[in-house]
Amino acid sequence: MNSSDVAAKRMFLSAPHMSGREIEYVQQAFDSNYIAPVGPQLNQFEESFREITGFKHCVAVSSGTAGLHLALLGLGIKPGDIVLGSTLTFIGSVASVKYCNAELVFVDSDRHSWNISPELLAEEIERLISAGKKPAAVLPTELYGQPCDLDRILEVCEPHGIPIVCDSAESLGATYQGLPTGRKAKVAISSFNGNKIITTSGGGMIASDDEELINQCRYLATQARQPVLHYEHNDVGFNYRMSNVVAAIGIGQLEVLAERVNQKRQIAAWYAERFEAVDGIALMPETDYGRSTRWLTVATLDPHQLSTRPLDVIAALESYNIESRPVWKPLHLQKAFADCRCVGGEVSTEFYENGICLPSGTTMDQSDVNRVCDIVIDSLK
Ligand SMILES: Cc1ncc(COP(=O)(O)O)c(C=O)c1O
Repeated sequence: MNSSDVAAKRMFLSAPHMSGREIEYVQQAFDSNYIAPVGPQLNQFEESFREITGFKHCVAVSSGTAGLHLALLGLGIKPGDIVLGSTLTFIGSVASVKYCNAELVFVDSDRHSWNISPELLAEEIERLISAGKKPAAVLPTELYGQPCDLDRILEVCEPHGIPIVCDSAESLGATYQGLPTGRKAKVAISSFNGNKIITTSGGGMIASDDEELINQCRYLATQARQPVLHYEHNDVGFNYRMSNVVAAIGIGQLEVLAERVNQKRQIAAWYAERFEAVDGIALMPETDYGRSTRWLTVATLDPHQLSTRPLDVIAALESYNIESRPVWKPLHLQKAFADCRCVGGEVSTEFYENGICLPSGTTMDQSDVNRVCDIVIDSLK
């Protein structure tokens, strides 16, 4: 590699990737003059989302974080209720539990899927129920696009009537047992943040088959206004609705969702091919029950075989103007959640210490992936 590589354009972890059609839908939004959190593009975006995912009802909101907040409120989560969530995730996943002043209990990862461990979850739920403290909800993250094993989680939750709020922020377009991911949960949330598999620049979706729940979320997202002309309020709501202009971008992005997932998976396959022959590097495994979006390709460095640590590799890539990141720092290790219990924690800590999120933008071609791999492999020497 020479100095011109260093000066080359920055390679981002997962940059927005427009299809080109979005601008036409945005123009339509402008033409309709619905420059507001209501309008035909917003309706069309929700309709397309329902068609693609099979959910009967959905409501578009300003972010995935807002979606999770409303989903919990819609389910009636109140101060003091217990919600079990993944520790290996982004803060936006469980901040909602704190917004509700509920008690957040973290659960460690499963070693194979990296998602919440169904075994530890089952043990904790049984323990809490025996103590007379039935959890009010379970909120598992589908990490880096890997679907959760919802059948196993349902097995534990369903007999006790505990709803599952599936955090599908990173997994839109993934499948579980052949179904769009999250379909078996009570409610699933997507994110359209700029780095997600498809983006509206920022935004989220709450989806469920429960019409009443989605109506309640829509009501809370629009300042809890009563359907009368004057401003009548029986509750204090939020200003969380998605803008019609932003939804227009989403229409164009949904058209290429399947293509983007295939591109992400191809990128992961190229990385796998290159790392196959390198001792000590492995990719985050994919389960046999689902098809991940591979939103980000994540590699682990085995500390018993390699002295190079993830931060060394990240620094090496950065010197070539390439962005990479550590795996999410488990939330039970963060000061903000010092008051939260964690069931287990060693597995997610190990993933954090040994993992690297590699550039996975869908505009990357095989030569980009090879360039990243050359730098990574070189940094191991
Ligand atoms: C797992 C996970 N949950 C929740 C969120 C929050 O979504 P948003 O950024 O749209 O609020 C994100 C990403 O941003 C995420 O990766």
